[in-house]
Amino acid sequence: MDTSDATPEPIPEATPENPFRHLPVMLDEVLAALEPMPAGAFLDATVGGGGHAAALLDARPDCRLIGIDRDAEAIEAAGHRLAAFGERVHLVHAAFRDLSGVLAHVLGGDPLVGFLFDLGVSSPQLDRSERGFSYREPGPLDMRMDRRQTRTAADLVNGSTESELAAILRTHADERHAGRIAAALVAARPVTDTRQLADLVRDAIPAPARRRGGHPAKRTFQALRIAVNDELAQLPGTLDMAIERLVTGGRGVVLAYHSGEDRIVKERFDQAATGGCTCPARLPCGCGAVSTARTLRRGARLPSDAEQARNPRAASARLRVLERTNPEKRP
Ligand SMILES: C[S@@+](CC[C@H](N)C(=O)[O-])C[C@H]1O[C@@H](n2cnc3c(N)ncnc32)[C@H](O)[C@@H]1O
Repeated sequence: MDTSDATPEPIPEATPENPFRHLPVMLDEVLAALEPMPAGAFLDATVGGGGHAAALLDARPDCRLIGIDRDAEAIEAAGHRLAAFGERVHLVHAAFRDLSGVLAHVLGGDPLVGFLFDLGVSSPQLDRSERGFSYREPGPLDMRMDRRQTRTAADLVNGSTESELAAILRTHADERHAGRIAAALVAARPVTDTRQLADLVRDAIPAPARRRGGHPAKRTFQALRIAVNDELAQLPGTLDMAIERLVTGGRGVVLAYHSGEDRIVKERFDQAATGGCTCPARLPCGCGAVSTARTLRRGARLPSDAEQARNPRAASARLRVLERTNPEKRP
């Protein structure tokens, strides 16, 4: 590990100009991945507090930005942060499932020159105890990114069957003790706050496992958050649509924070690059698949040791980059 810059950097204090305390992850790598990119309209599909967006607008005066987020507090914060860029910024409180309509409304038939999806949660969502995302802070069992949504984490924990809860923990967090945790939650209902949930999870898992791999409730909170916000279901179709809207030479960048998310990103990028062709590589393609993109570098890129030390929340990030190409059949 590179220890030359190992002092953790405090998350910046909230100020009137920047009320959203969030360090943009792999910022230099994201900006580098977006070059070269034509001039035009850029999509930030998870604008959050506008950290990546501000840096991109600074670096590329020939680009304008459409930013969406399903969290109204994020859109408000991004509005403050990006106000100086005036007409170059268009922000919309919307989720991935609304994106196609938003782009049609804002751009008409014009293409995108690039996009960024910085998936997962923001630091303010985690740090504001009243949002109920954090296993460290006491708060209501909420976890909704969009507070217009009715279903909360409490509804999920108190209204699902034991086997449904165990499946959520296995699918979204690879939780080895899913069955024991689900049984403990069902026995303790109603579960109404984050502290109660964190304590129940800690007590449900075997003592040796409590001492390994970070806070014992971390995976349960991640799994419930993904389920409450239906995070994975919206992602594949939205990525396909964003790739489809890119101009030739346009760039797409995604930061994923857990294996389930990253698997979807890799699949959709590979699908665009191969056109879904499964013919053996040594034979001519007989299936007629059409490639519309190429992935830049094999595998995902990880944050540097220095960034992980400065910002531990960046540690699980996986960056993937794609470039749109002219549609082409495999020979
Ligand atoms: C990691 S933060 C983005 C931070 C941002 N890049 C910055 O520098 O400030 C992720 C954001 O994506 C939003 N988000 C997650 N899933 C979403 C979805 N399906 N539709 C729209 N926004 C979503 C969250 O509300 C959160 O604000």
